[in-house]
Amino acid sequence: MPRHLAIYPGSFDPITVGHQDIVRRSLAFVDRLIIAVAHVRTQRKDALFTIPERVELIRQHYADEPRVMAMEFEGLLVDFARQQDARLIIRGLRAVSDFEYEFQMALMNHELWPEVETVFLPPAKEYSYLSASLVRQVSMLGGNVSGFVSPDIFDALSAKLAGRPA
Ligand code: PNS
Repeated sequence: MPRHLAIYPGSFDPITVGHQDIVRRSLAFVDRLIIAVAHVRTQRKDALFTIPERVELIRQHYADEPRVMAMEFEGLLVDFARQQDARLIIRGLRAVSDFEYEFQMALMNHELWPEVETVFLPPAKEYSYLSASLVRQVSMLGGNVSGFVSPDIFDALSAKLAGRPA
């Protein structure tokens, strides 16, 4: 079976244990993985970390894993994938509610660049309800999110919410 460079795109504000689970499982069938933090759509009013901060948090988290890189991209995902010569896009599919949007994106991306394929991975069942937006919301309102992010990300979140540099 040929081995691959894949792209795992998303907002990652912040990266959660659910994302990290998808990364871990992707590495079973890809050689290298670019975690790609998107500019588009992610600069929402409720954004917490800046895009460079998200990239840096991911880089630090995977500092000892040479197969994982973190990058940011602007514009179309397929253009970024083409630049990187990556023909595989990985997306986590948590619930049926994710399906329609993910299905549309996969078909559109394939239409835009027929050489690219999307692979959907289901979450581990304990993460099926988890999303970065809920983690942001719960943590901003003072809830404990230590079970949903790794300790390094938890520290960065706490520092961010306390107004200190991440
Ligand atoms: O974590 P998210 O917010 O669900 O990720 C969505 C993302 C970033 C993967 C998607 O919005 C995207 O690919 N944006 C880049 C712009 C693009 O290519 N749009 C057309 C997709 S069909």
